Amino acid sequence: MSNIIIVSNRLPIKIEKANGELIYKTSEGGLATGLSSVYKQGKNVWIGWPGIVLDKNKDKNDVSRDLKDENMVPVFFTDSEIEMFYEGFSNATIWPLFHYFNQFAIYDQSLFDAYRKANQRFCDSIVEVAEPGDIIWIHDYQLLLLPEMVRKRLPEIRIGFFQHIPFPSYEAFRLLPWRREILFGMLGADLIGFHTYDDMRHFLSSVSRIAAIPSTKGVINIDSRHVEVDSFPMGIDYQKYSDAASSPETLKREVDYRTSIGKQKLMVSIDRLDYSKGIPQRLMAFDLFFEDHPEFLGLVSLILIVVPSRDNVGEYKRLKEEIDLLVGKINGKLGTIHWTPIHYFYRSFSLHSLSAFYRMADVALVTPMRDGMNLVCKEYIASKLDQRGVLILSEMAGSAKELSDAILINPNDINQIVEAIYTALTMPPDDQKAHISVMQESLKRYNIHHWVKIFMDKLNEVIETQKSFATKIVDKNVMKVFKDQYDKAKKRILFLDYDGTLTGFHDLPSKAKPDAELLEILEKLANDKRNKIVIISGRDRQTLEDWLGKLDIDIIAEHGVWLKEQGKKWNTIFHMRNDWKDEFRPIFESYVDRTPGSFVEEKDYSLVWHYRKVETGLGELRTRELASHLRYMASNKNLTVMEGDKVVEIKNSEVNKGYAADKWLMKDKYDFIFAVGDDWTDEDTFSAMPEKAITIKVGQISSVAKYRIESYKLVRNFLKYLITD
Ligand code: UDP
Ligand code: G6P
Repeated sequence: MSNIIIVSNRLPIKIEKANGELIYKTSEGGLATGLSSVYKQGKNVWIGWPGIVLDKNKDKNDVSRDLKDENMVPVFFTDSEIEMFYEGFSNATIWPLFHYFNQFAIYDQSLFDAYRKANQRFCDSIVEVAEPGDIIWIHDYQLLLLPEMVRKRLPEIRIGFFQHIPFPSYEAFRLLPWRREILFGMLGADLIGFHTYDDMRHFLSSVSRIAAIPSTKGVINIDSRHVEVDSFPMGIDYQKYSDAASSPETLKREVDYRTSIGKQKLMVSIDRLDYSKGIPQRLMAFDLFFEDHPEFLGLVSLILIVVPSRDNVGEYKRLKEEIDLLVGKINGKLGTIHWTPIHYFYRSFSLHSLSAFYRMADVALVTPMRDGMNLVCKEYIASKLDQRGVLILSEMAGSAKELSDAILINPNDINQIVEAIYTALTMPPDDQKAHISVMQESLKRYNIHHWVKIFMDKLNEVIETQKSFATKIVDKNVMKVFKDQYDKAKKRILFLDYDGTLTGFHDLPSKAKPDAELLEILEKLANDKRNKIVIISGRDRQTLEDWLGKLDIDIIAEHGVWLKEQGKKWNTIFHMRNDWKDEFRPIFESYVDRTPGSFVEEKDYSLVWHYRKVETGLGELRTRELASHLRYMASNKNLTVMEGDKVVEIKNSEVNKGYAADKWLMKDKYDFIFAVGDDWTDEDTFSAMPEKAITIKVGQISSVAKYRIESYKLVRNFLKYLITD
């Protein structure tokens, strides 16, 4: 069985030193708590930093030995590495930028160099531990370069990557000076997962616009490797939180806390110290709430838990001071001898203490400015065994996509938070129950085990797909087998793509015109009465007619809009509208205006932007912009945008080569079926072929075709070989 090697910057435990003794504690944070159930199984291991800098080799050896028994492998760093890699590039560059706090982001080459070095250290540890057949599951923003590094060292290993924080929109991401390195780093994985569809969309858009690699339905082809991107919203260990909520330890703590806090209604706020969590805004809303609703003075308290985090990073220090100040101000202004408005704890709590707070809280205030997922809100719901309580949740948390039964707020709208607090505190018990039970059902089902399973299933599926794409090369032996089949067959059909398959160029008609050699091959093929030769091309019908009209062959033009059987007239199987072109033509023209060397080709049912002659780099850049612009405009219009070799084309969705090829296959029975092509559009042809067909892809790109051939020249040689006696 394959073992899973989890890799994250932080191990699920952290080590502290007190009086010369090493003390092991559990780590806070969504990632550590979420995955803690996985690494303990079988021979799985978790590689990560144990949260402490150790100078002595003896300490390092002791820690490594202790952790080995717990299925963990530590990666050690020095003080300055932690400062540059963890506090620096990870938490003062990527974290703020990815949470849309660009004003806090520091861009410094030496921090990035330290980040690269640290990722390399993780890579070395993986290489030491990994065995063939293992699965490497890399987590989060501290390790974005690692998938590519591991891929280089262990090319055959399976790699999954999951990002726990948001992936920002292209407009934010492109600010990063090392954006290409980061993207290619991530693309070393076989499967890349995000919490939400929006994160996934943003990532794909950056891959397309920065790395110039297009994607279709979350599939990316990079260096002939098939990579998939998908969203997997992370769940919690539901059972653990619901069990904890009824445990004697939790109940005892609840009694203790209640005795010291009093009988007021309670709201709870639990986060790591982080500006992304919106703690000051939450406190301001709490303050304002009493201005708007003074009748609640003395009746409601807020339990504010802030878990110390990254407090060596400047912005975190400043935030801590701001929170201290605000809490002091509010308590000073509103507090009485009988009532403390905010019970503030700057520390972390154990599971049972947290569980007691969750149980006690009438309202949970979870109002981050941005959050990849947010598990606290899920834990709160799972702990509500009596189904009493209300969740106020920020729309900017990934979890809001699943928990639509919460009161959703915009964290920048303080008045809306105030209103939400009022609604929550006055919500009838039946309504509370109704909302909580819906959310509990969903959280029970989409729990952490389910999340791990669907991620792993998907990773295995991607690997299977890659295997099926591992097309065989058409070498001499394969050619011989095909020649035997060809010779024996009584009725054959050969679908031949034109550009890139029979000629070397996708170019202007003057350059791509068939030469004497090609015409001779086609003529010989066509002269054999057992053969039906079908040229299946994206080119317009007039060009194909001019070039090939005299041969005894059939032609499919414009990806299947126009069809012609030898001796008959051009015909179309579609009766499609093309008035949409009026709306799109000006867009194409504007890209031509801005991009010297490009031009627009207009076909009956499509518009094509060609950029073969455009300066390298500029064409790729513009094509990303144009393709996303067109996709946006084309949504709901039954139009498809295709990115081919140096072209972007928009066409009616019904048009595709596979559909057209199928028409030919239905007309007769053949005992030799053959299709060859080099472009994305030829994938439709391959997919339409029956199982027994021979399908060949020209070039290095992965394909559904069964075989692969290097170049158009070899296609010609192969066809010549077929027709020799
Ligand atoms: N947590 C904890 N002790 C505390 C406070 C919080 O263990 O005193 C845990 C909490 O139960 C949750 C995690 O820390 O599982 C926080 O995860 P979340 O996704 O909400 O935020 P993150 O810290 O990952 O940004
Ligand atoms: C978030 C991140 C994790 C991180 C955790 C705690 O959950 O997604 O990668 O481990 O916060 O932060 P820390 O900096 O203490 O590891």
